[in-house]
Amino acid sequence: MTIAVSDRLRRLPGYPLAEVPVIKRRLVDAGVDVIDLGAGDNDTPPPAPVVAEMNAALADPAMSKYGFQQGYPGFRRAAVDFLNRRFGQRFDPTTEILPLIGSKEGLAHLPFAFVNPGDVVILPEPGYQAYTGGALLTGGEPLVYPLRAEHKFLLDLERVPTEALARTRLVYVNYPNNPTAAIAPLEYLEKTVAMCRRHGTVLAYDNAYCDLTYDGYRAPSIFEIPGATEVAVEFFSLSKSYSMTGWRIGYAAGNRGLISALTKIKSYTDTGPFLAVQRAGVVALDRSEEFCVPIRAELERRRDAGVAALAAAGFVVETPKAAMYLWIPLPPGVQSAGFARHVLETEGVVTLPGSGFGPAGEGYFRIALTVGPDRIREAVGRIGRALSTFEPGRVAAAS
Ligand SMILES: Cc1ncc(COP(=O)(O)O)c(C=O)c1O
Repeated sequence: MTIAVSDRLRRLPGYPLAEVPVIKRRLVDAGVDVIDLGAGDNDTPPPAPVVAEMNAALADPAMSKYGFQQGYPGFRRAAVDFLNRRFGQRFDPTTEILPLIGSKEGLAHLPFAFVNPGDVVILPEPGYQAYTGGALLTGGEPLVYPLRAEHKFLLDLERVPTEALARTRLVYVNYPNNPTAAIAPLEYLEKTVAMCRRHGTVLAYDNAYCDLTYDGYRAPSIFEIPGATEVAVEFFSLSKSYSMTGWRIGYAAGNRGLISALTKIKSYTDTGPFLAVQRAGVVALDRSEEFCVPIRAELERRRDAGVAALAAAGFVVETPKAAMYLWIPLPPGVQSAGFARHVLETEGVVTLPGSGFGPAGEGYFRIALTVGPDRIREAVGRIGRALSTFEPGRVAAAS
């Protein structure tokens, strides 16, 4: 007997990274020197004082108890202080902040609080998969907004038909952007907030990359836009800024009503992040400015090495001002999934095909700046070689 899965599950597309670890393991076992530029997961360690605090927290039995949604009060305080120092925004730690088991969890849970079956959820494409997951699992109707280079990869609500906007309960907006590395000008954010206020739309602003900025660029908070507090929930992550991806810690900020709605959903699905991780997170947030300097400098070196090597290999790529990705156009006619598979199988380099972020990502591939400049140069040299041996028809048919 086969147990039928739910219609919701059936609606979920395959997760783009799913097959990569299996192929990677096979290649590594065969002795291939694999370079993994796939997932946005740096090879850098978390800051030593954060690790030391984690060790101390583990020795405290109180940290092994349920955290519930209130969690470790110091973490809420540290988040509020960070938001004030960094963006000049003030929040109440008890009612306007919510610790998350990584920001992905909060982003995916948010629609359960605001979206009824049939309501429209606007998703950027290419975009982070958790948005699609949340929208589909709640029975929302995803409206896919293609991010285009000619519009600087901005999701412009003024281009969405008014009829659809009237039915839209939630829009996901993410700058600095994964995977395109695009950034959002303040005027754009002003327009977006105004549209959300006009239509009563919740604005999920994903700021996972706010600390990874270069060339003097500073990524704003959505709350710097007057009126944003009425409609926005902003998501922050400790994953990328402090090389703590596996620790699973982030937080949401927003007005009391929006945060309490998400809190209620979460109180039925989880019991909050590990208290010891929250306590260690306090050290990260309190010393954020100090800890982010070296990671930013390292990523900038990697970015510059990658961009130069890609140009030498014949690719045309812009130098991004933020995030940790290069989003690289493929020559016309080169299909991204077949190409990424070819690069992995023939050269042992993990990249992500643009189509893995949805059909609108076709024509691109993404590399994450997860390894040092020399390894990036080596990887890009291999990618260039793979391009010269790529036979679109044959590989596409085989993949
Ligand atoms: C745009 C974006 N948002 C959120 C996340 C999730 O980060 P975490 O759940 O580790 O906080 C990621 C991770 O890659 C991301 O790229």
